[in-house]
Amino acid sequence: MKVLILPGDGIGPEIVAQAKKVLTVLKNDGLDLELQEAPLGGAAYDQYGSPYPEFTQKLAREADAILLGAVGGPQYDTLDRPLRPERGLLAIRKDLNLFANLRPAILYPELANASTLKPEVVSGLDILIVRELTGDIYFGQPRGIRVNEAGEREGFNTMLYAESEIRRIGHVAFQAAQKRGKKLCSVDKANVLETTEFWKEIMTDMAKEYPDVELSHMLVDNAAMQLVKAPKQFDVIVTGNIFGDILSDEASMLTGSIGMLPSASLDANNKGLYEPSHGSAPDIAGKDIANPLATILSVAMMLRYTFNNEAAALRVENAVKKVLAQGLRTGDIFEAGTTRVSCSAMGDAVVAAL
Ligand code: NAI
Ligand code: MG
Repeated sequence: MKVLILPGDGIGPEIVAQAKKVLTVLKNDGLDLELQEAPLGGAAYDQYGSPYPEFTQKLAREADAILLGAVGGPQYDTLDRPLRPERGLLAIRKDLNLFANLRPAILYPELANASTLKPEVVSGLDILIVRELTGDIYFGQPRGIRVNEAGEREGFNTMLYAESEIRRIGHVAFQAAQKRGKKLCSVDKANVLETTEFWKEIMTDMAKEYPDVELSHMLVDNAAMQLVKAPKQFDVIVTGNIFGDILSDEASMLTGSIGMLPSASLDANNKGLYEPSHGSAPDIAGKDIANPLATILSVAMMLRYTFNNEAAALRVENAVKKVLAQGLRTGDIFEAGTTRVSCSAMGDAVVAAL
């Protein structure tokens, strides 16, 4: 299995180095892995003048799975839009057809106090957001900034979903629900937006193929409220690209730290890009204090979804639980009575637990 590692920018190289230690342990224990590395985002712009250069693209297309740190940083904010690091991320997702973004939000019992919500609201939380990643208003044409007929400047984007795009993300979500709590909530804004009225119609039709899954629908504004009011009512949530972007960030905060949350972006054959849900955290980059656990948990998702190796996935997840139980914490999850450790020490602790 070929794994391409894209360290990226900011804290990316620091957190990815810890995940690499984990992959190396698995490799030494007999997992057939070939690790390669390439730049993406700002690092790629610096080296090749493009956030998703051909060198990276070639290796990405050949890989079975990709592990990404994060991209972006203030030094790139003045670049033309097509050259910005974040465009590299959009480009690789689109290039590899990674339409299914899975973002679990799990509250580990050891971190019960990390959430800003009351323990009874979030304790035991385990939800999965399935976000469509290659369509919607982020990619729909036409788009741009123009001068209209009245001579005023205006910005515009197009919210667009083809039926096939809705069905393929629907299958991923229904099947994920089948393997979990058998409840799927489809989030839309069908009362106002035709695109999502269509989405709701297709999801309703698909439910006939999955009689064991209980499908419900919720308007996105209500979903935003329910996620903080009673998040445990959800099992799997499926939604489009823009609603999923916002709701998954909101859900991530229920668990206290974005430093704990992995993600997977899959194509139709379970080839995947795995990355922490957070960004490149330029404010703490280069200090060896970032939390590497989201990236390490992304490796567990890689083992589960691309390599179909549930035992290895659980081994990694259990190692993470073990270091939390030992009281080891990076700064973002530190609280009185626990032991503050650096990013690299956390990586070493996970290796020891493995
Ligand atoms: P961010 O997620 O990088 O940081 C938000 C806050 O969380 C910061 O205070 C940061 O220090 C903290 N944080 C994030 N990850 C952490 C970790 N592993 N351990 C401890 N603390 C952590 O979001 P922000 O600041 O909005 O964006 C920074 C840059 O990252 C921007 O250039 C943005 O475009 C980019 N970005 C990239 C993403 C990606 O590569 N997938 C996703 C989101 C943002
Ligand atoms: Mg986001």
